[in-house]
Amino acid sequence: MKHVPVLLQESVDILLSGRSFSGDHGVIVDATFGGGGHTRRLLELGGDLVNVVAIDRDPAAVARSADLKKDFPGRFQLLPGNFADLDQLLDDAGIGRIDGLLLDIGLSSFQLEEGERGFSFQNEGPLDMRMDPAVGRPASAIIQESDVETLTRIFREFGEEPYAAAIARKIVAGRRQKPLLTTRSLALLIADMVPDYKQSRRHPATRVFQALRIFVNDELKALEEVLEAGLERLNPGGRMVVISYHSLEDRLVKSFFREAAKGCICPPRVPVCGCGRVSRVKIIHRPGLRPQPDEIERNPRSRSACLRAIEKL
Ligand SMILES: C[S@@+](CC[C@H](N)C(=O)[O-])C[C@H]1O[C@@H](n2cnc3c(N)ncnc32)[C@H](O)[C@@H]1O
Repeated sequence: MKHVPVLLQESVDILLSGRSFSGDHGVIVDATFGGGGHTRRLLELGGDLVNVVAIDRDPAAVARSADLKKDFPGRFQLLPGNFADLDQLLDDAGIGRIDGLLLDIGLSSFQLEEGERGFSFQNEGPLDMRMDPAVGRPASAIIQESDVETLTRIFREFGEEPYAAAIARKIVAGRRQKPLLTTRSLALLIADMVPDYKQSRRHPATRVFQALRIFVNDELKALEEVLEAGLERLNPGGRMVVISYHSLEDRLVKSFFREAAKGCICPPRVPVCGCGRVSRVKIIHRPGLRPQPDEIERNPRSRSACLRAIEKL
């Protein structure tokens, strides 16, 4: 099992060509370490002047960081935790300002393919979905204990599922017959509602699984928090790169960047600016960058990726 890093060259080039790393030591934070693919390339290409501080909330990802510590002594460290707590994590490690931040959000192939983690309807396992198995409630508890209204809201808000209410009703009726505790049992129950599902491009449970994962890990809130804290921490000239994999995340990133790039908002007829608002960032690549066809062919998981980047002014 392996995780193939997405938009690797593009993201590393953007991060390393922002602020000049010549002469001065720089710190880049990879807040989604995963299998360490992006971190390794940053350390290889950044040379001795670039240190990488990585973060991951998944203990299995943390355990994968040992090789990098050996290969790049003194230039790499991993902080276990949620990137929503960026300030606390960096303060505790004695790190002040940073020169780059990478967020390659979502799941790694390690997490998706490990049935025991319960992220994928393709691999049988307990319906868990917690990135950090020690924090929060597993997806099975949400499925077993929530009422129809709550489930409908979760599927609609975090999965944009058009049949949210019908699926929620079917779950509540189904769990009375037999508890829904595994990935397959939930996927089969949803698939049963769609007679010709094998003909469709996507499995009918795709959106529900996405919604549950986002809800269980409170992913959108964590993203909002790290965007603001990360921008605050960046040195002028430092860059932030975010790779997202679905429209909910991408919309959030796009609107945060757009808002931060906005300068004076006074009406044109006002001769002197009274709002005092100045752009905090410059947007790099508008619209977002998508993987090239050859990357999608090599790594089909990259097909929905969208990279957005800014430079702090
Ligand atoms: C797509 S993978 C990153 C892959 C990595 N760039 C690589 O090349 O190997 C996303 C990783 O981010 C982690 N993650 C997601 N949300 C997180 C959060 N709020 N805090 C810390 N880590 C998070 C996941 O556990 C996962 O390991």
